[in-house]
Order: sequence, then C-alpha cells, then structure tokens
Amino acid sequence: MAQVPAESGTGVRHWLVTGASRGIGHAVAALACSRGDRVCLVSRSAEVSGVATKLGENAIGIAADVTSSEDLARLADQIGEQWGRLDVLVNNAGLHRGGTINRVADSDWDATLATNLTGPMRIIRAMLPLMPPGGAVVNIGAVVGFRGFPGDSCYGASKAGLAGLTQVLAAELARRQVLVNMVVPGFVLTEMTSSISERARRAIVNRIPLQRMGTPEEIADVCWWVAGSTYMTGSVVFTDGGLMCNL
Ligand SMILES: NC(=O)c1ccc[n+]([C@@H]2O[C@H](COP(=O)([O-])OP(=O)(O)OC[C@H]3O[C@@H](n4cnc5c(N)ncnc54)[C@H](OP(=O)(O)O)[C@@H]3O)[C@@H](O)[C@H]2O)c1
Repeated sequence: MAQVPAESGTGVRHWLVTGASRGIGHAVAALACSRGDRVCLVSRSAEVSGVATKLGENAIGIAADVTSSEDLARLADQIGEQWGRLDVLVNNAGLHRGGTINRVADSDWDATLATNLTGPMRIIRAMLPLMPPGGAVVNIGAVVGFRGFPGDSCYGASKAGLAGLTQVLAAELARRQVLVNMVVPGFVLTEMTSSISERARRAIVNRIPLQRMGTPEEIADVCWWVAGSTYMTGSVVFTDGGLMCNL
C-alpha cells in the first residue's frame, strides 16, 4: 500500500464526520467547512447529500450505515478515490435506547452496541490506510459511559466501550502518529434529547453547574481544537457545563 503523505500540501484537512445530517455531527461538519477544510458528511439517509450541498463546495455527503461493513468498505473506496487521504475522522453517529435491565430488548442492546461501539471500531479500521501521520480520530462519548444512570444500560455500556477503545487505539496507533481522543458532550439540545419530558430536562439541568444545556456548536468548537492538537492522545475531554463534577 502506498504511504499517505504527511502534508496535503495545501494545509487543508480532509474530514469524515459520521451522523452529520443533524445535531452535533452537523455542527462539527459546518465548522470545519467554514474554516476551509473539506468534509464528508455521513448518515444513513440519502438526504445527507442535500445537507452537504448547503454547506458549500467544501462538503460532500455520502449515505452509509456505520453498522454495515459493506457500506464502510464503499465509503473508504469513495474517500480514497475522491481525496486519497483522510486527516480527521469524527465518530459521532449515535443511537440511544433506554430501558432498565429487565425491560431492555435484546434488539435494542444489539443495535446500540452496533452503532455506538462496533461501528466506530470498523470505520477506524476501514479508514486507517488513508490516514497520514498527524491524523486524528475524535470519538464522541457520553457522560453515562462514565457514571451510572439507571435505565441507560445499552447506551452507557456502548459509550464506556468506546472510551476503552479510545485508550487502546491511542496506544496502538501512536507509532503511526495517529492521535485518538474522546470528546464527551453533556446534555445538548438535539433530536436525540428532544423527546425528554420537561420535568426530566429540568432535573438534569439542575445538576449542571452552568445551569443550562449545551449547544451543538459548543461541542463542535471543542472537536475542532481536539482534532488540531498535536500532543494529546488517549484523552477524554468533558464538554458538559460541569455535569461530571456534580454527579
Ligand atoms: N445530545 C446529547 O445530549 C448528547 C450527549 C452526549 C453524547 N451525545 C452523542 O453525540 C452524538 C451525536 O448525537 P446527537 O444528539 O447529535 O444525535 P442526533 O441528533 O440523533 O443525530 C444522530 C446522527 O447520527 C446518524 N446516525 C444514526 N445512526 C446511524 C448509523 N447507523 N449510521 C450512520 N449514521 C447514523 C443520524 O442520521 P440518520 O438517522 O440519517 O442515519 C444523525 O445524523 C451521538 O454519538 C450521541 O451519543 C449526545
């Protein structure tokens, strides 16, 4: 396999952001495009290409399901043909399924682990040949991967697993100079959290020292600088208004 050159020659980085059709992933993609980098937005829905078009000529959209090995192989081929390299991979696509342990359906457990943990592992493996020294992987975690929230067994286990994968790959990929970190959003207003009752929302916000939800743009800002760090790998960056300090 040919070596991917360390510098693109232009200073422009090439990003792939999963789950970029809306929410946090979309904010990450929009920020990188607005700063002159090139971004491939990925989600299952074909509408992602229209979403990318709206971000301008630096963006492309490719429909792919991170739980499908065939889709990931096709995605790697397309990125290879289009750009020949990938500098930043943001594993953001995520699925939340709730239910206490006696009620959680096996299908919900399987779908959550497949999307939030197995998907990122497979996409990193698929994209690695395209990543030059200096490449960055940013995994999106969750506070429930670090603290016990009743009713969040699938989601918590999937995000705890992703935190473990982040540590292992930081150590494994350091010799290739590929840096692997995790950004952990707190409570952010997106489609994922939109169905939470007003009562539950208030209870969570009350535990956040900054006393408010975060915005997708505030998470994107942190992803941007984590992806640009040159001496941080295996780190977990909480971006949660202080929630972790108060649990
Ligand atoms: N919002 C929060 O408070 C919060 C807190 C902590 C962590 N997070 C994490 O932040 C990430 C983004 O969350 P969000 O709140 O922005 O969620 P969201 O609004 O529900 O967006 C999820 C995105 O993932 C895509 N997606 C879902 N399954 C996919 C799959 N199998 N393959 C490819 N794309 C898939 C969705 O598009 P399609 O449906 O078209 O595929 C969508 O673009 C997730 O990993 C989530 O766990 C969120």
